[in-house]
Amino acid sequence: MNRFEDKIAIVTGAASGIGRATADRLRSEGGTVVGIDRDPVDDVDLAIQLDLLNQDAIAPTVAQVMDAYGRIDVLCNIAGIGHFSRDEDETLERWNRVIGVNLTGTYFMSQACLPHLLESQGNIVNTASTAGTHAQPWSSVYSASKGGVIALTQTMAITNGKSGLRVNCVAPGGVETAIGAQFTPPEDVDLTLMTRIIPFERAGQPAELAAAFAFLASDDASYCNGIVIRADGGTMT
Ligand SMILES: NC(=O)c1ccc[n+]([C@@H]2O[C@H](COP(=O)([O-])OP(=O)(O)OC[C@H]3O[C@@H](n4cnc5c(N)ncnc54)[C@H](O)[C@@H]3O)[C@@H](O)[C@H]2O)c1
Repeated sequence: MNRFEDKIAIVTGAASGIGRATADRLRSEGGTVVGIDRDPVDDVDLAIQLDLLNQDAIAPTVAQVMDAYGRIDVLCNIAGIGHFSRDEDETLERWNRVIGVNLTGTYFMSQACLPHLLESQGNIVNTASTAGTHAQPWSSVYSASKGGVIALTQTMAITNGKSGLRVNCVAPGGVETAIGAQFTPPEDVDLTLMTRIIPFERAGQPAELAAAFAFLASDDASYCNGIVIRADGGTMT
């Protein structure tokens, strides 16, 4: 398949995990990929280091992509962070950091790309989580951020759909990536609550998620707008 030939795709979170695998997948299908991450990104056509918490730097970063290629066809907002926390122990600083990367970062990357995506009749694929579609213990801020991503996906899809922009979302379940290390159960909690989020059969692999991102980002998904693909191996079914 060469679904991304002549397409310029931005992938955030491209240094690791699902973002890394999605950058590989889009390139393997002919795409030119700009990998954005707070960490250095290898094996993309253009790598840009950006901390999404530095929101003033988002628009200049997108301008840099336009300077390099003159168009943007696809934005995959994949960068994300999270943690488990007892509600009693959550801090405003950590709350703001998770919302800042997962929700605010996703929104303002989308806003900065919007005029260019309308011009190219392109699309956005966001990253939610089963934590945003179903209850997940000790995850108030992470779940709120991912529920927010679903809400903004649907809102932007409807607002811009008649102008030719599609906005969709992938909701992964448990996938084997570095983010798992950020989710350590708090001490002295009821660990039986974990059972509801343990992968049904096995954890997913990043490439299996990249396939869902590539589908939604491609013309194969031309009639999909505002949808959430839950890719969790059936865990929440
Ligand atoms: N792995 C899972 O089980 C799982 C499940 C549901 C949802 N997700 C979501 O998938 C997405 C990708 O996560 P992953 O599993 O590949 O984890 P990962 O930790 O391997 O990758 C996340 C990437 O985001 C980047 N990032 C983090 N904060 C950033 C910031 N401030 N600015 C720029 N880049 C930043 C990291 O450097 C990293 O490269 C995230 O949005 C995550 O919430 C993952």
